[in-house]
Amino acid sequence: MKTGSIILCAGVGTRMKSAKSKLLHELLGKPLCYWPIKNALALSSTKPIVVLSHQAKEVEEVLRFYFHDTLVFAYQESPNGTGGAVKAAIKNLDPECTNVVVLYGDSPLLKKESLANLIARQRSTTTAVALLSSLAPNPTGYGRIVRARDQEISAIVEEQNASSLEKTITEVNAGTYVFDADFLRNNIDKITNNNVKKEYYITDLVHLYMKDGAKLGPVASLSVPYEEMHGVNDRCQLAYAENILRHRLLVDWMLEGVTIIDPQSTIIEESVRLAKDVVIYPGVHLRGKTHIGEATIIENGCVIKDTVIEKNAHILPYSCCDQAYIGENTEVGPFARLRPEARLENNVKVGNFVEVKRARLKKGVKAGHLAYIGDAEIGENSNIGAGTITCNYDGKNKHRTLIGDGCFIGSNSTLIAPLAIGHHAYVAGGSTITDEVPSKSLAIGRSRQVNKTQRLLIKESRGDAVVEK
Ligand code: UD1
Ligand code: CA
Repeated sequence: MKTGSIILCAGVGTRMKSAKSKLLHELLGKPLCYWPIKNALALSSTKPIVVLSHQAKEVEEVLRFYFHDTLVFAYQESPNGTGGAVKAAIKNLDPECTNVVVLYGDSPLLKKESLANLIARQRSTTTAVALLSSLAPNPTGYGRIVRARDQEISAIVEEQNASSLEKTITEVNAGTYVFDADFLRNNIDKITNNNVKKEYYITDLVHLYMKDGAKLGPVASLSVPYEEMHGVNDRCQLAYAENILRHRLLVDWMLEGVTIIDPQSTIIEESVRLAKDVVIYPGVHLRGKTHIGEATIIENGCVIKDTVIEKNAHILPYSCCDQAYIGENTEVGPFARLRPEARLENNVKVGNFVEVKRARLKKGVKAGHLAYIGDAEIGENSNIGAGTITCNYDGKNKHRTLIGDGCFIGSNSTLIAPLAIGHHAYVAGGSTITDEVPSKSLAIGRSRQVNKTQRLLIKESRGDAVVEK
């Protein structure tokens, strides 16, 4: 018994009013269709078949990025309806498949467990069609589930073709089906486009099956909460879906021991990993492959992407980190910017308006204020004064600055790379350093102060002070 799957991603998505395919609009940092495809991948025994047409090249490229070669792509000549899409996919179905899941790429909220339940239901009842339905607070736009007197499902009627009586039905089609594979193979060509929009509807299979005597048993249905079946046709529905998905993940983390002070304003993408006792303040965005260690505190408004933060670190408000590493007990911000390959080891302190890029700050380094540290390595316990700049770029190439352990770089120093400063060296404040500084020496790279003698005249008549040179 093999279960195949088909995910429909070929539609134009007219209601999004976008130059971009609807399926590529992002939901919690991933394309809309990523979510149903992920479920299909988890539950099918053969490679999921993704149907493409509108912007096929773009959608395929993005899906290959996320799913590599775990998918099969089928191409629907023109998006002539959901029935047409399944027809385009069917020849790719593994002949050994006995049942087939059909999902829509624009329905991202369905839980894997609900899909698993539907597959189990179809298997246990031998029916040719099992589907998910839901009671919608506002059924407008959805296909209505029509039930006969005996309560068996007799058809699904699309909004455009529904009578005014049918439009009052609140039980709607979630757009998730499990078909008997042979039934699907033998009947997909029987669907016609005899409807208002002249499209081929997969939902017509229900009526076809019932009309034919429902030989394998009545259509089976499982009810899911409306929240799970919510489809995304326009940007309002996209925002609604984002909110639900985001909140679900936040609840999971809170139950795992993470404090999230204001879930309404917090974004945590699904690939993020958090240890217990992490505390997240309002307005924090954690994206990509970010990992955060135990008891670390992330304060208001931080945006952190693809960054590893070890335990007991403290990220102060409005800091941005991208592809950085932050060691244990390290403090960053407020208003710090860590760019790719910034590596802050344990007990480092990087303060306000400090930017670090492709630089290693060994343990105990302090750069408290207003500095640019790029293409550099800074030894243990060195202190970088306010306004220090590593001048790493000569207009063509990048050069490195190496600073030893226990150094003191005075405020407003300009360090012109390539440059090496030995251990325990001092750089006087306001220096421009172009040459190597040996260990344990003091480098002064500025002109001396000159104090000129001045004569102060007091204008008695006016009572104010005038300086005369
Ligand atoms: C569809 C269902 C409706 C259900 C609703 C649930 C049909 C006819 N209607 O309506 O009963 O209540 O979903 O959300 O199935 N697609 C293709 N090729 C096409 C047309 C569409 O691949 O030619 C894809 C779309 O990209 C989309 C999915 O199929 O991911 C559903 O199409 P859409 O036009 O959004 O259907 P709905 O009108 O929402
Ligand atoms: Ca839809």
